[in-house]
Amino acid sequence: MSRLMLITLSFLFSHISNFGDTHAKQLCRPKQRDVLLEFKDEFETPNSHDSCFVNNLNRHPRMKSWMYNKDCCDWDGIKCDLKSGEVIELDLSFSCLHGHTSLFKLKNLPSLNSLSLSHNNLSGEVLFSIGNLSHLTFLDLSNNLFSGGIPLSIGNLSHLASLDLSDNYFSGEISSLTENLPHLTTLGLSNNHFGGKIPFSVGNLSLLTILGLSNNNFDGEIPSSFASLNRLNTLMFRDNNLSGKFPTALLNLTKLSILGISYNHFTGTLPANINSLSNLLYFDASVNSFSGTLPAAFFAISSLRYLDMSNNQLNGTLEFGNVSSSSNNLVSLFLGNNNFRGPIPVSISKLANLVILNISNYNVQGGPVDFSIFSPIKGLTQLYISHLNTTTTIDLNAVLSLHLKSISILDLSGNHVSTTNKSSVANQPLQRLSSLSLSDCGITEFPDILTRLENRMTELHIPNNKIKGQVPGWLWTLIRYVNLSNNTFNGFETPTTKSPSSVTYLFASDNNFTGEIPSFICTLDSLDTLDLSNNNFNGPIPRCIGNLKSNLSRLILRQNRLSGSLPENIYGNLISLDVGNNQLVGKLPRSLIHSSTLEVLNVESNMINDSFPFWLTSLQNLQILVLRSNAFHGSIQQQTRFAKLRIMDISRNNFSGTLPSVFFSSWTAMSTLDEEQDEEMYMGSGYYHDSMVLMNKGVAMELVRILKIYTAVDFSGNKLEGEIPNSIGLLKELRVLNLSSNAFSRRIPPSLGDLKALESLDVSRNKLSGGIPQELGSLSYLSHMNFSHNHLAGLVPGGTQFRTQGCSSFDDNDGLFGPALDEVCRRTNPERDETPLEPEREGEHEEEVLSWVAAGVGFVPGIIFGFTIGCMLISYRPEWFVNIFGPSRRRRASTTAR
Ligand SMILES: *[C@@H]1O[C@H](CO)[C@@H](O)[C@H](O)[C@H]1NC(C)=O
Ligand SMILES: *[C@@H]1O[C@H](CO)[C@@H](O)[C@H](O)[C@H]1NC(C)=O
Ligand SMILES: *[C@@H]1O[C@H](CO)[C@@H](O)[C@H](O)[C@H]1NC(C)=O
Ligand SMILES: *[C@@H]1O[C@H](CO)[C@@H](O)[C@H](O)[C@H]1NC(C)=O
Ligand SMILES: *[C@@H]1O[C@H](CO)[C@@H](O)[C@H](O)[C@H]1NC(C)=O
Ligand SMILES: *[C@@H]1O[C@H](CO)[C@@H](O)[C@H](O)[C@H]1NC(C)=O
Ligand SMILES: *[C@@H]1O[C@H](CO)[C@@H](O)[C@H](O)[C@H]1NC(C)=O
Ligand SMILES: *[C@@H]1O[C@H](CO)[C@@H](O)[C@H](O)[C@H]1NC(C)=O
Ligand SMILES: *[C@@H]1O[C@H](CO)[C@@H](O)[C@H](O)[C@H]1NC(C)=O
Repeated sequence: MSRLMLITLSFLFSHISNFGDTHAKQLCRPKQRDVLLEFKDEFETPNSHDSCFVNNLNRHPRMKSWMYNKDCCDWDGIKCDLKSGEVIELDLSFSCLHGHTSLFKLKNLPSLNSLSLSHNNLSGEVLFSIGNLSHLTFLDLSNNLFSGGIPLSIGNLSHLASLDLSDNYFSGEISSLTENLPHLTTLGLSNNHFGGKIPFSVGNLSLLTILGLSNNNFDGEIPSSFASLNRLNTLMFRDNNLSGKFPTALLNLTKLSILGISYNHFTGTLPANINSLSNLLYFDASVNSFSGTLPAAFFAISSLRYLDMSNNQLNGTLEFGNVSSSSNNLVSLFLGNNNFRGPIPVSISKLANLVILNISNYNVQGGPVDFSIFSPIKGLTQLYISHLNTTTTIDLNAVLSLHLKSISILDLSGNHVSTTNKSSVANQPLQRLSSLSLSDCGITEFPDILTRLENRMTELHIPNNKIKGQVPGWLWTLIRYVNLSNNTFNGFETPTTKSPSSVTYLFASDNNFTGEIPSFICTLDSLDTLDLSNNNFNGPIPRCIGNLKSNLSRLILRQNRLSGSLPENIYGNLISLDVGNNQLVGKLPRSLIHSSTLEVLNVESNMINDSFPFWLTSLQNLQILVLRSNAFHGSIQQQTRFAKLRIMDISRNNFSGTLPSVFFSSWTAMSTLDEEQDEEMYMGSGYYHDSMVLMNKGVAMELVRILKIYTAVDFSGNKLEGEIPNSIGLLKELRVLNLSSNAFSRRIPPSLGDLKALESLDVSRNKLSGGIPQELGSLSYLSHMNFSHNHLAGLVPGGTQFRTQGCSSFDDNDGLFGPALDEVCRRTNPERDETPLEPEREGEHEEEVLSWVAAGVGFVPGIIFGFTIGCMLISYRPEWFVNIFGPSRRRRASTTAR
């Protein structure tokens, strides 16, 4: 929702940059023509078959029309002064230009006042020479790959009125702009890496009407000098590290219509006289730490249409003041995830123009919720009202047929909802409902009010309830997305009608399904994602799933009791195939290579009996390969070419023989950081995210989501022998390496010291000899390691990471010594004397696992935004720890709180 404004901003800019295409006939000056042709020669000439053009109809190779024998004032992208014939505007936006450019040549166009190079792939630093273009009033370099700081010489562009640098990789401070460009009316700096404080001198830009600073690293408070920018209309600070109280200086900006300060660290209360901003249309302060009450003055701003205060710590009761339906134009109101309490005020019905309302997590303190207060809001189509802490049961049928007749999206998750009361229901059809979320509502019966849907519904979320019996057969033609997971369904009704199914996503994991996977599933021919994991299905995987192969991209059948072999005929467009934890036998089907899109293949914990699948290397998108705990066997004595592989777990099989020294040398995804800027942080996309279980030392850790930058190699528990391949040192992005419980011999390759990202290293239970390479001492992320049960000797490296291991990590070797070892073993030994052996061991075991978990998590904060660590910790299912460690939960708390 708030992304909207970012888009609007660049939208504004891209429209400002559109030049008129009226060309009067006038002759171009030959000297200026030559300058332009020289400038053109700096670029590789893109032809119209360039993939950049092919993929994007907006783009257009303007320079193609630049020919010596034509009047340069007629060239595409050029505008000349009507009288003098001098070039005054140059527009090369959307022209598929790339590489570096020196703007220096343009110096010889003395009347050039407008230059746009936006939406290209130009890179490098903007040269000092930019100062030569001192007549420019309009400069647009947005949407390129420019980097580096802003050159001081930009101060020479003293006539500049509009400057757009947004969507690049610029960094550094911005004071050279604010101090020297007093005529700016538009300044776009969003989506860069600018940082530092917003300079006080920003107050010099008193003509500014649009200022975009979103998505940078600005910190500190907003300077009071903002008060003098009284022409500002649009001000966006979204997604920075700004802090302090709501800047009262902003209250002076009475022309302000768009103000976005979301995703920062603002605290304190909002000013009660916020209605000083009497022209406000859009206000977004979500995801901050504002506290106190929501000023009723917001509702006195008659221009306000969009208000987002969600995800703050506002408290008290909501009050709307004496708002009247006629003066209030609010369309979107987001107040979810605050600490509001008390009854939902009846006066909310005076916000008569509302279309979207989110008051999720409003704490009604056990009281009832009266849905009739929403009835007067005729246009309300989206209502998010989850987790209200009401003790009264919400009657779904009454809500849908009496109070929210035109609702399209309704979220009642986390409230107690009843679907059974049929008497209150008038028999009218459901007209607009398109998405219904009823997660965790204590529902015991399937809501059959949905049989009265007039149109297909988009989404039904009904997981985490207690619905028993069979999944109704009428569902499949009515809904596109169905989430039924974590209920107690035990079967599927055979579909009643023959009309084509619309179900595209079916999530039915964690239920009580038994018997064979029903063959009607094979008639759901729009299926993209099928997740039947964690049930009691048995029998073979139905061959008829092959009927779905043109659409099916995720097939998740893990944790059932499926038997037989993997079918040959089902692989077409699969992206994820997870059949782990079943009783499958036979070989991996060779026809898998037809799924060239495959990214995740997980067959762990079955009885698959095959040799190493070298042929999988032809799947050039494969990122995660898990063969753990099967009966794979034979040698892997070939170089493998897994270009995108990031997680490879072939542990607990019977692989044997030596690995060639070049074994890892073509695993490019683990050897270079992918510079590609990826929106998705986790494997999977949209509705589906991959999950997996990683093992360490016999303990499983469930990753509910897999970070895309996660990398692991686990070859443990096989019979591999010979030297550890030296090429392991090429996997510079590797984070977890487990080679334990094999028969590796000879020395540990010093190239391990090149694995600068390594966090966990286990080479225990092999026949390694020689010393521990001193290079390992400098690996600063290496927080867990195990060298025990080998024949190692010599000096243990002295790095800090070595000094924080348990003594047992070095146990049972031939002759390790050194101050680091003395330190770790002196630390643990006295304890060993005092406490009984068993509990101590358990504790140590726990610590190892936890430090490994920490390794899995610990790399996150430096690399990704701070909130990720929260997500990661939440996504470790706590029950897992409880199951394994029984009552000893205290330590987990302390580890995760770190
Ligand atoms: C920039 O380059 C990337 C990859 O080389 C390409 O996909 C994209 O279309 C290019 N964008 C522009 C604006 O030329
Ligand atoms: C003009 O460009 C040249 C070459 O990059 C540079 O040396 C010079 O300082 C520039 N002049 C100004 C005023 O920026
Ligand atoms: C251009 O910029 C340079 C570097 O900031 C500065 O030394 C020079 O005085 C400026 N020239 C003009 C004409 O402003
Ligand atoms: C710019 O701002 C600074 C700091 O606010 C001030 O000292 C300076 O006089 C201002 N310059 C102009 C030209 O307004
Ligand atoms: C801001 O507004 C207050 C009250 O309207 C006024 O006293 C003050 O001078 C204004 N500040 C500036 C810098 O315009
Ligand atoms: C609301 O929050 C403020 C600031 O955190 C606090 O002082 C006040 O007591 C809270 N009020 C209620 C009703 O919880
Ligand atoms: C929910 O409401 C009850 C009153 O019924 C109250 O005691 C409890 O603290 C509330 N829960 C939360 C999380 O505030
Ligand atoms: C399953 O649903 C119940 C509520 O019915 C909930 O308490 C539990 O946490 C859910 N389990 C999972 C794994 O989400
Ligand atoms: C799930 O199925 C098993 C046997 O199939 C049965 O014993 C159990 O009671 C069922 N659970 C529920 C909640 O229906």
